[in-house]
Amino acid sequence: MKEKRLKIAIQRSGRLSEPSSELLKKCDINFQDGLGKLRSLAENFPLEIFSLRDNDIPQYVEDGVADIGIVGENIIAESGCNIEMVAKLGFGRCRLSLAVPKAFPYSATKDLDGLRIATTYPAILKNYLNGRSVKADIHNISGSVEIAPSIGLADAVCDLVGSGSTLFSNGLVEVETVMTSEAVLISNRTLEPGLQKILDKLLFRISAVRAAQQNKYILLNAPNEKLDEISQLLPGIKSPTIMPLAESGWSSLHSVINENDFWNIVEKLRDAGAEGILVLSIDQMISGRDSIGV
Ligand code: PRP
Repeated sequence: MKEKRLKIAIQRSGRLSEPSSELLKKCDINFQDGLGKLRSLAENFPLEIFSLRDNDIPQYVEDGVADIGIVGENIIAESGCNIEMVAKLGFGRCRLSLAVPKAFPYSATKDLDGLRIATTYPAILKNYLNGRSVKADIHNISGSVEIAPSIGLADAVCDLVGSGSTLFSNGLVEVETVMTSEAVLISNRTLEPGLQKILDKLLFRISAVRAAQQNKYILLNAPNEKLDEISQLLPGIKSPTIMPLAESGWSSLHSVINENDFWNIVEKLRDAGAEGILVLSIDQMISGRDSIGV
């Protein structure tokens, strides 16, 4: 019998394409001939990968052409497709914002009344403006939105902003965030049980990779009389591992710390008498209670 494969759609080229394939690689999923093709089979996991335009991914997942996909929340919202959002993935963070030329005396959304706004996100923008009773003329264009005001096509734009450098270099100022977005794993709403099982396995790996990205492994030496104080600073998964060193009166402590608290904790450890502090990145982290969601 032919092996069942879960079909995943990822962005072929653009802001999510590299981090999406990186995530699958970190899950130890290898691809025949790499990932440059429109369609690739994973060698060591029952997965088939389609590389597609990101705009098409929600529809393909709704129709069951692909079972799951990695796509930005902005694309999902614009598509209006009926799909399941399974997990936020923590990359591709950006925002969809309204921006106006530098000289525009903007103070509130109402200032956009009667103006022309260029965007590739007409549905989201329409919804946003309706919610604020603003009537603007939405120009749906397929790209290079930022130049629309300077060529006389629009008075304002609604576009994705990451670093903000594209707006800046086109003389535009961000005035309102319409929505924030990041990459999300989506799924068809009616996956058959065999495919759902493969998705659960994939989610387990993604969860381990994400936990690892958010934590660091720390090793340090400490005088025994400071062990209690230093242990209090190291919550770890449960509690730190403590092992005696060859030098009497000293121990080695191993633990895991969250990246967000990292520098703060390291400074406190040093002040408390820790020496020889080593910090290592973690490939995967499985605590036994992993779960990710939206
Ligand atoms: C978006 C957006 C801008 C750019 C902004 O395009 O349309 O061109 O990113 O990024 P910045 O704030 O970091 O300068 P994207 O690369 O996502 O591709 P797109 O043209 O398909 O929207």
